[in-house]
Amino acid sequence: MIKRNKQVAKLKSGYLFPEINKRKQNFLINNPEAKLISLGIGDTTQPISSTVVDAFVGISKNLGTPEGYIGYGPEQGIELLRQKIANTFYKNLVNSEEIFVSDGAKCDIGRLQVLFGGEVSVAIQDPAYPVYIDGSIIQGIDKIHMMSCSFENGFFPDLNVLDRVDLIYICSPNNPTGAACTYSQLEKLVAYAKKNHSIIIFDAAYAGYIKGPNLPKTIYEIKGAEEVAIEIGSFSKLAGFTGIRLGWMVVPEALKYENGFSVKEDWNRIATTLFNGASIIAQYGGLAVLEEKGLKEVEKLVDFYLENARFLKTTLEQMGYEVFGGINAPYLWVHFPGKNSWEVFQELLEKAHIITTPGSGFGPAGEGFVRFSAYGKREDILLAIERLKKIKI
Ligand code: MLT
Repeated sequence: MIKRNKQVAKLKSGYLFPEINKRKQNFLINNPEAKLISLGIGDTTQPISSTVVDAFVGISKNLGTPEGYIGYGPEQGIELLRQKIANTFYKNLVNSEEIFVSDGAKCDIGRLQVLFGGEVSVAIQDPAYPVYIDGSIIQGIDKIHMMSCSFENGFFPDLNVLDRVDLIYICSPNNPTGAACTYSQLEKLVAYAKKNHSIIIFDAAYAGYIKGPNLPKTIYEIKGAEEVAIEIGSFSKLAGFTGIRLGWMVVPEALKYENGFSVKEDWNRIATTLFNGASIIAQYGGLAVLEEKGLKEVEKLVDFYLENARFLKTTLEQMGYEVFGGINAPYLWVHFPGKNSWEVFQELLEKAHIITTPGSGFGPAGEGFVRFSAYGKREDILLAIERLKKIKI
């Protein structure tokens, strides 16, 4: 009989969101009439804009004709889409050759972890999106440093106490805390990476939510970042593509291993081995998002979710809770001092029929917190607010 993969066996029994779903199903067995409101997983709820839908329809029809049919596309993505991503999000701080279009941030992170393998040391924010740590464990990495991020340090790690690591994961705007990095924080990060010859994996999947005028939208706004950072971007939360699947990664030409070999070249090797390119239909949708009309539509969409976040934040603060995030991010990180996150999750489920995400599911430093997602439909957000006002946790 085949032996179970030791690394997989080391993972906590369930990935966070399926575990939440299990608890939800158990609750529904005993309370079949309950009308649950999901403010748990960050899944978009608003329809995709008409410009983008038209693009999906157009390319789908073409695919049904002899002249319009397309098989495999370039693994790195349609050239025009790569150019538009470089122009729109990076103002040409990076070039199209450095953009790799993908089926989304989570899948990209998994392939990146294959690229760097199991011998590297990594530093991960605590709390963090679970994929950084689980994917590292799967690769067999045992040198994992957790960098505590709390309100005391503005949810940004103290790099002065961090030993040298090969890879450092930073997510901004942060999932789950909602904190967006400042210029000065990113300058310190880039300086750390330069000094220690580390590579930053900068997860900017929520960059579209940054509205503050003095906040960097990409790490490449920091001088020299192209020598030390890979950036991950996504259409999921920007344009409602969570089910469509489309993202990208920036791997700069200037990023090298200690022997001077190009990281981008190795990434191209891994990506083209493990991935056949993003869906053509999704990529045509992405092209439509990046047209003038599409960009206006997604801005409205992002503003809608940020307004949800504002409504929730105001209510929770009026109820006396300390609420972080929710301004440049679609997540609210709510403090329940002295309480266990899963207990708060359960209380919110039982008393208000609201599903949230327990902070401890993102790491030990998340204990005592619960994350609220602002991705609900407006009527659900308003109903959740009514219900919240009637309970005490
Ligand atoms: C989340 O709720 O943290 C995200 O939706 C999960 C994801 O994007 O994979």
